[in-house]
Amino acid sequence: MMGACTAVPLMSRSRRRPCWWRCSPTWAMASSPSLVTCVTFCATGRLRDATSPGRGRNKRTLCPSIRTLRTFTPETSTCGSGTAGTGPYAASLAAKMELVERVSLDYNWTFEYTGRVVTDVINLGSYNYLGFAENVGPCADAAADITVKYGVGVASTRQEMGNLDRHEEMEKLVARFLGVESAMAFGMGFATNSMNIPALTGKGCLILSDELNHASLVLGARLSGSTIRVFKHNNMQSLEKLLRDAIVHGQPRTHRPWKKILILVEGIYSMEGSIVRLPEVIALKKRYGAYLYLDEAHSIGALGPRGRGVVDHFGLDPCDVDVMMGTFTKSFGAAGGYIAGKEELIKFLRSQSHSAVYATSMSPPVVEQIITSMKCIMGEDGTTIGLERVQQLAENTVYFRRRLREMGFIIYGNNDSPVVPMMLYMPAKIGAFGREMLKRNIGVVVVGFPATPIIESRARFCISAAHTKHMLDRALSVISEVGDLLQLKYSRHRMQRSVGQPFDDNVYEDIDD
Ligand SMILES: Cc1ncc(COP(=O)(O)O)c(C=O)c1O
Repeated sequence: MMGACTAVPLMSRSRRRPCWWRCSPTWAMASSPSLVTCVTFCATGRLRDATSPGRGRNKRTLCPSIRTLRTFTPETSTCGSGTAGTGPYAASLAAKMELVERVSLDYNWTFEYTGRVVTDVINLGSYNYLGFAENVGPCADAAADITVKYGVGVASTRQEMGNLDRHEEMEKLVARFLGVESAMAFGMGFATNSMNIPALTGKGCLILSDELNHASLVLGARLSGSTIRVFKHNNMQSLEKLLRDAIVHGQPRTHRPWKKILILVEGIYSMEGSIVRLPEVIALKKRYGAYLYLDEAHSIGALGPRGRGVVDHFGLDPCDVDVMMGTFTKSFGAAGGYIAGKEELIKFLRSQSHSAVYATSMSPPVVEQIITSMKCIMGEDGTTIGLERVQQLAENTVYFRRRLREMGFIIYGNNDSPVVPMMLYMPAKIGAFGREMLKRNIGVVVVGFPATPIIESRARFCISAAHTKHMLDRALSVISEVGDLLQLKYSRHRMQRSVGQPFDDNVYEDIDD
């Protein structure tokens, strides 16, 4: 969990600046003490760094961007994010988990295990949206059976000896699941982006990238050698302006038309919980003749009435998205990623993508986990379990978000997004929140600079279909208790449910705190 968060921020998320001129009074009230805290942190941190005995070692071993973080990191979280005070996990990361406790006596440079295992912890941090990352049930059984038949390793690339019948079945299934002509799978989600974007675009091409895109998209764009321009997060005016400029002016100096214009967006943004404004993006890409690359890492399985992602959520035609990308690491509880779209696109990538040509093919039990979970969502296993999980996730998400808002927390993102960022604002509250939650047996991910702007620290909850109502209620009551303790109920807009009327998320009532 910790690793998943620490890798992201160093590259792509840190470029954001807070919009001072647009902030609400509540936000401003919360941000002023945060700024004071940051300045104090900076000053004491610099002093501590300058005088600490480990100074020489740190300078040698860490790159500058990490070293500066030391100033801000609370004692028990790493790089401003992670589950506070926890180490490896001792059991499956389903709705509940066991954590091996660790402590740091040197401000997070090293950790030691205390030997204590914290049991019965509710997991509010994994991307296990549909609960398929479990060690029991049909997926785990199928993966175990296939291991007996095929073994774990394939020891070759797809183009040499590593092309199994199970790989081909999986790819056909993915294409059917998404409603497109063809699909291709890769062993790693991150590499799916970073290695395929350079195969699709290059010199003379223009990439228009959302400012909050994941590091793998940013890396892929940079490796491609294309010109990159960044538009404001989910802001269609900003995107349209870049598109119009690109068409009007063409390439710098020569003014030749761009060979290709590729728009890069995500389905759900994992630090904001926002859902891409796909209908508008599709309309723009059609109007200006651009291509669209959609990363559905967090939305596939987790959004839409049939769990088919953001396209399903908006009821759009998947053929309007030129490159559908997603990962198997979240909703499917497996590993790897896919690219899907037209037959022609997939044929091209099979021969041109570095990750297709040089990477060893996917492990059979992983492939089986994907096939079994996907068939379950599609109802092809003869049950309605998959669909029920999709519906359960939607219900859990709406319930959890509504309760947090009713309690007075400020949360970000779209109402249907199972990624729920809850604002802590002050960096000092990052570690405190994680630790206090864990003391009460709730495991959460807390995130700070540089994954977020420095005064927008947050806890990032991930809701799962595997969470029962009882678990969510328990978690909510603990969040409320810790929220009171740390004074996190910043919102002055408490939503009130009117008796006898259906709940409407757009209705707010001002409450004097
Ligand atoms: C939007 C996005 N794309 C790609 C990835 C990389 O996927 P993986 O973790 O499966 O390598 C992630 C990881 O969280 C992601 O959030």
